[in-house]
Amino acid sequence: MAVRIAGARVLVTGAGRGLGRVFTESLLTRGAAVVYAGTRDPAQVVSPGAVPVRLDITSAADVAAAAARCADADVLINNAGVMRFAPVLAAPDLQSAREEMETNYFGTLRMCRAFAPVLAANGGGALVNVLSIVSWFANPQNSSYCASKSAEWALTNAARVELRRQGTLVTGVFAGVIDTQMGAAFADLPKTSPQLVVDQALDGIEAGAEEVLCDDRTRSVKAALPDDLTLIYPAHQARWDALHPG
Ligand SMILES: NC(=O)c1ccc[n+]([C@@H]2O[C@H](COP(=O)([O-])OP(=O)(O)OC[C@H]3O[C@@H](n4cnc5c(N)ncnc54)[C@H](OP(=O)(O)O)[C@@H]3O)[C@@H](O)[C@H]2O)c1
Repeated sequence: MAVRIAGARVLVTGAGRGLGRVFTESLLTRGAAVVYAGTRDPAQVVSPGAVPVRLDITSAADVAAAAARCADADVLINNAGVMRFAPVLAAPDLQSAREEMETNYFGTLRMCRAFAPVLAANGGGALVNVLSIVSWFANPQNSSYCASKSAEWALTNAARVELRRQGTLVTGVFAGVIDTQMGAAFADLPKTSPQLVVDQALDGIEAGAEEVLCDDRTRSVKAALPDDLTLIYPAHQARWDALHPG
């Protein structure tokens, strides 16, 4: 189920900055017919040619209005996300975990549910969810975010099963740390450029890929999953213990 970008009508969430802005501009460069730039603040949309759409994905009213406004969309890129950099137990309360789940899981789920019929009406198209290397393991420093991206991964896989019959390509995009405002929390880790992530994601859609793994670290973590307790977690345990002595 390969989907051509040239001529496509695409909605990107979280399009005002970071990865979302790069998605928006790259889609226009590749000849998308319309790029709806979903953002909580339409004044953020400065990409020439993009169509601003007010869209907070945690708002049922905004999502319903966007589905009506973008009724001709045949590609949806669920990019919007938040990361509060909080551990699951050492955080003072459930606030961060709830905010991350509300946006990354429930917000994305709400978008998928609203746009599944739109994509069906427009020939199937593609539903793209921007996931993470931490959909697959829990990094202790931001583990409530990891839980939300894990939930979003499960949602992506389930949506693929439900939408296959209507001809919708469902693609999960996975990356390690990306060089955006969100990625700045990880000063000591290597970062992938947002353009490289977007280029691979768009190539993946055009090739009909169901998963796009954007960097070496992401590919090696996916390969290590059968032995995650011995290959992935010991380094995180050591780092957690070093940062939290006693
Ligand atoms: N950066 C990384 O290291 C990394 C790695 C793997 C995956 N990801 C994923 O990549 C995606 C993009 O992240 P990024 O790196 O570009 O982060 P970012 O620079 O922090 O940008 C996040 C974007 O999401 C938007 N957003 C947040 N909550 C929203 C809501 N309720 N409704 C609509 N938009 C909302 C923000 O809009 P405002 O301007 O209104 O806040 C912003 O445009 C996210 O799904 C993230 O989980 C990031």
